[in-house]
Amino acid sequence: IDPSLDLFEEINKLKKEKNAVVLAHYYQEGDIQDIADYIGDSLGLSQQAAKTDADIIVFAGVHFMAETAKILSPNKKVLLPDLKAGCSLADSCPPHLFKKFKEKYPDHLVITYVNCTAELKALSDIVCTSSNAVQIVESLPKDQKIIFGPDKNLGAWVAKKTGRDLVLWNGACMVHEIFSRERISKLKERHPNAKILAHPECEETILQMADYIGSTTGILKYATNSPAEEFIVATESGILHQMEKDNPSKKFFPAPPNNTCACNDCPHMKRNTLEKLYLCMKNGTPEIDVPMDIIEKAVIPIERMLEISA
Ligand code: 13P
Ligand code: SF4
Repeated sequence: IDPSLDLFEEINKLKKEKNAVVLAHYYQEGDIQDIADYIGDSLGLSQQAAKTDADIIVFAGVHFMAETAKILSPNKKVLLPDLKAGCSLADSCPPHLFKKFKEKYPDHLVITYVNCTAELKALSDIVCTSSNAVQIVESLPKDQKIIFGPDKNLGAWVAKKTGRDLVLWNGACMVHEIFSRERISKLKERHPNAKILAHPECEETILQMADYIGSTTGILKYATNSPAEEFIVATESGILHQMEKDNPSKKFFPAPPNNTCACNDCPHMKRNTLEKLYLCMKNGTPEIDVPMDIIEKAVIPIERMLEISA
């Protein structure tokens, strides 16, 4: 790339020329969030992907998110700046093993968290995100038996909130499992008025300390509406960009991880860069492709989720 290029200007030009929309998750780097047409959590992004009239959806997020957009808009071109932007949680649930697991519980309904492959969604009855998981479970009759996967932490939290007995798949996100209870407590001692905000993908020991638990959009809204001035944030660090932008007078501290070498960045989300975003829009590649037989099955549980959350 010519270093004299103003990538913001070039990306904006390409958006108009190609009738492309850029959708970005809150875990993307700040520059990508700033150039996006829409920034959101997984639910908001899938709602946007379902209703956009752009010809091209450029997904600044990870592979399963771009797949979801393709499933909802199969006739559109969906681009992902780096095809290797995967997800440890999606990887923790290989579809062939999940299929066998599901066979052990033939009378159970399958709810899967959107952070999974298209193939897994094709094996599901309803998809959910962290912002509507409780609502989706509660929309089902009380005696309905349910398998919940792939995130065991989100599943355990939903089970507790709804009082339901969910059969859980043993999966987890590498970013949300690194937080240290001891180090968060020490940070809280230094900032006793700080509110602790956590994503439900965190382990229960961290969720127990939280003043608020919710999706990335939920966390952002809570921080904006709260009279508190300081916050300890137990989720991926990309969210701090919008929190600081929306609340310039408030202070946000990333929750410390258990290993001093670790950080709260998702290595998959952070594979996308402004340069790769520009190149993928210019070249029209890499493109997401989902086989039609998978699209036909996977769209049903995603649309069920969107109907319940409308
Ligand atoms: P939400 O966007 O639903 O908060 O999920 C967080 C996440 O881990 C996305 O990868
Ligand atoms: Fe997957 Fe976790 Fe990264 Fe989200 S933060 S994309 S769940 S690895």
